[in-house]
Amino acid sequence: MTLQAYRAQLLRFDADGQPLYDSDGLLVTGPGADGVRRVVDAGAHGAVAAHHPGVPVERLPGRLIAPGFIDMHVHYPQTDIIGSPAEGLLPWLENYTFPAEARFADPAHAAEVARFFFDELARNGVTTALAFATSHPASVDAFFSQARQRGLRMIGGKVLQDRHSPDGVRDQTEQSLLNTEALITRWHGKGRLGYAITPRFAPSCSDAQLRGAGELARRHPGTWIQSHVAENKDEVRWVRELYPQARSYLDVYRRFGLLRSRAVYAHCIYLDDTDRALMRETGTAAAVSPTSNLFLGSGFFDYGSAARTGMLHGLASDVGGGTSFCPFHTMLAAYYVGREGQSKPGLSLAPSQLWWRHTGGAARALGLDGVIGTLQPGTEADFVVLDPRATPLLARKIAQANGLEELLFALIVLGDDRVVERTVTA
Ligand code: GUN
Ligand code: ZN
Repeated sequence: MTLQAYRAQLLRFDADGQPLYDSDGLLVTGPGADGVRRVVDAGAHGAVAAHHPGVPVERLPGRLIAPGFIDMHVHYPQTDIIGSPAEGLLPWLENYTFPAEARFADPAHAAEVARFFFDELARNGVTTALAFATSHPASVDAFFSQARQRGLRMIGGKVLQDRHSPDGVRDQTEQSLLNTEALITRWHGKGRLGYAITPRFAPSCSDAQLRGAGELARRHPGTWIQSHVAENKDEVRWVRELYPQARSYLDVYRRFGLLRSRAVYAHCIYLDDTDRALMRETGTAAAVSPTSNLFLGSGFFDYGSAARTGMLHGLASDVGGGTSFCPFHTMLAAYYVGREGQSKPGLSLAPSQLWWRHTGGAARALGLDGVIGTLQPGTEADFVVLDPRATPLLARKIAQANGLEELLFALIVLGDDRVVERTVTA
């Protein structure tokens, strides 16, 4: 492997999450000692090119190079149940999710869906995801085998759910923890793969299982934790009945040692400021899943309070509660949810901030600052080549765009997988 450069419009992010844009940019990549390709240099072509004589340059006129998108919360086994209507979260789990996930006891089915899932991520420019598998260890092997073959930075784990779950997905407390530890040994830190300890949510896990998950998280501090919290009012009420002694839903996870950096909780809609302070103090992150929250009618994430309290957060698809793998659709839904002003103050999230929450900000929330998401020198060369004129309406809109924010907003509002011309991974 040798140095390779790409000349196009270039979007990067600085350490404060501010966008850096070059209308004529150059991205220089090269192999690291570990075989992973990294960003060697990036910036305006006029400033960068002279430092890299002889490096082959691929010219991509009219194209925009940007960091690969990061999906902070997705269920790969729910690929086939996108768009399944229900009267809210709990009936949706019962009627669609658990039957679909039960099929992942079959390794051949798991492998087929995993292949399709990773193809779909690539088509949509998503280069890293924090993913749920199912309760079947074979579903985790299928996920990581595919990710490794493709050289991707991916994080995932076996779902823990030993109660309030039907036959076919319910696991056994002791065995589920032994399986989790075996899977950590098999997959965590292999190449660019990371393991996530995955209690589904408090109602589906016994105290013993949550306690065991917390102990595993303490013994393996480099692993991730992923779960759900405060998504839906019926769910919150159920948790209050199950844990009357806890101060809040989030507090249940604290009691079992499940809040720390690299712990990521999907939704976080029904939190109060005490919960948000607990998230910040422990380094726990929220995976905001707007297409899912709108589709299931769960509620509206409060971006203003998240920013005010300094709680880590980033964007996620939450397929199959979410309706799209496409980061443009997720960012647009995040904008809609921000605008909503009945359940909390409405605000207009800046296009570059929406974009950062799905790239560098998501990396920071995952504890992968300086590794992916910004295209800063030294970070891994996971990026997308976008065609901002992929459709007639986009071409028309882009021609009138005034500055970076208008360019990014046109892509967020009108863009889809047709914009993603190429997804390059390190
Ligand atoms: N809460 C528990 N399980 C799930 C799930 O699969 N999807 C969503 N959106 N919420 C959950
Ligand atoms: Zn989810």
